[in-house]
Amino acid sequence: MSVRTGPDTVDLADPALLRDPHGAFARMRERAPLVRAVLPDAGTPVWLATRYDDVRTVLGDTRFVNDPAHVPGTDVSGIRERLIRARGIPPEYARYLLDGILDADGDDHLRLRRLVSRAFTARRVAELRPRVEEITEGLLDRLAAAAEDGVADLMEHLAYPLPITVICELVGVPEPDRPRWREWGRTLFSMRPVEMGAVVRDMVEHIQELIARRRAAPADDLLTALIRVHDSEDGRLSDTELVTMVLTLVVAGHETTAHLIGNGTAALLAHPDQLALLRREPELMPRAVGELMRWCGPVLMARMRYAAEDVELAGVPVRRGEAVMAVLAAADRDPREFGEPDRLDITRETDGRRERHVGFGHGLHYCLGAALARQEGEVALAALLRRFPGLALAVAPEELERERQQLPGMWRLARLPLRL
Ligand code: HEM
Repeated sequence: MSVRTGPDTVDLADPALLRDPHGAFARMRERAPLVRAVLPDAGTPVWLATRYDDVRTVLGDTRFVNDPAHVPGTDVSGIRERLIRARGIPPEYARYLLDGILDADGDDHLRLRRLVSRAFTARRVAELRPRVEEITEGLLDRLAAAAEDGVADLMEHLAYPLPITVICELVGVPEPDRPRWREWGRTLFSMRPVEMGAVVRDMVEHIQELIARRRAAPADDLLTALIRVHDSEDGRLSDTELVTMVLTLVVAGHETTAHLIGNGTAALLAHPDQLALLRREPELMPRAVGELMRWCGPVLMARMRYAAEDVELAGVPVRRGEAVMAVLAAADRDPREFGEPDRLDITRETDGRRERHVGFGHGLHYCLGAALARQEGEVALAALLRRFPGLALAVAPEELERERQQLPGMWRLARLPLRL
């Protein structure tokens, strides 16, 4: 069963949508609770949910599953494989993209999540803070040293290297390998089929090698802990799952956080009143990061979900097997939930215990690394503002927007030149 398409079907590769996704999603949100769309690569028809309550339902209601194989009685198990083929992934490597925590449901999902969740609790993340601050200060030294005529690129010198260093230290990826991961992460999100196949193969081979090395010489890192679980013979982690977990953690752990730092910095610099307020009242930082997640969060859409049975969503019948995508960026600017949703207001309560924004998702697949990402965002922005009292954009905001990487599910800057 797939969503029927018609003249009102949205093309997620439409250049107008990619240029201004927030505007396009807002129009959809006001047009209807669910709109039909097709994915760029395999042309797969999907429903898009754009309203806050519906997005929370799609992500929070277990009648929507992540693995199409869990839709009873419908032959949709080939959907994922078709998508992967369209992206140029060799079939023998496809399972490494399918056997992950993000694609698991029910007990399998719980089992995978429990294996790693302890490393990312609020308490463990708080213990990492001094190290995150130390890495940040070192990177700011290098940012300052790299400046030419007082201008340096934040993406290059802080936004990418901070999260990649933190997640690689946690997982146990050695320093010399880290620049390759950065390239791989970038390609994996680029959706260019020609390069993606080769990148997935290189990543898998690299991780397998890393596992062998770490097995021979254990260390105090997450990879060693996962290898122990894998080798303990109680079947809690398969070969593929081990590789996929490392791949997921390292890629999800930096490609997203880099753009929270990039988008967040750009947004503050383009809103001088908010920036001045934050400089005056640095204790607003946690709220500011929550608001930046809401206003310019890097993940525009959640992973695809499938209806495991016929479901009525906002009065629209979604039939068993149909695919639904939750548009996080649309939900986070839904006037039904947030007053003056297009206004950046760092005093707004969007985060903290109430966690109203859905930039980290919602429900069972809620971002595992949210506490870590928030902390990296807070540390990076605080240190940057403290170190450079006269920080400013070195290009016009409109030029930055023109240069944004146009990708269906992500909101990212390729570069962010700053005048220090
Ligand atoms: C899941 C966003 C940082 C690891 C998710 C989801 C979102 C998200 C929206 C849910 C996807 C869905 O339900 O379809 C973000 C953003 C980040 C960030 C915006 C940075 C600003 C991180 C970091 C890690 C991480 C630092 C490192 C561990 C994961 C993992 C999942 C996930 C493993 C899958 C969880 C599950 O399926 O149970 N993230 N993430 N993320 N994130 Fe993050």
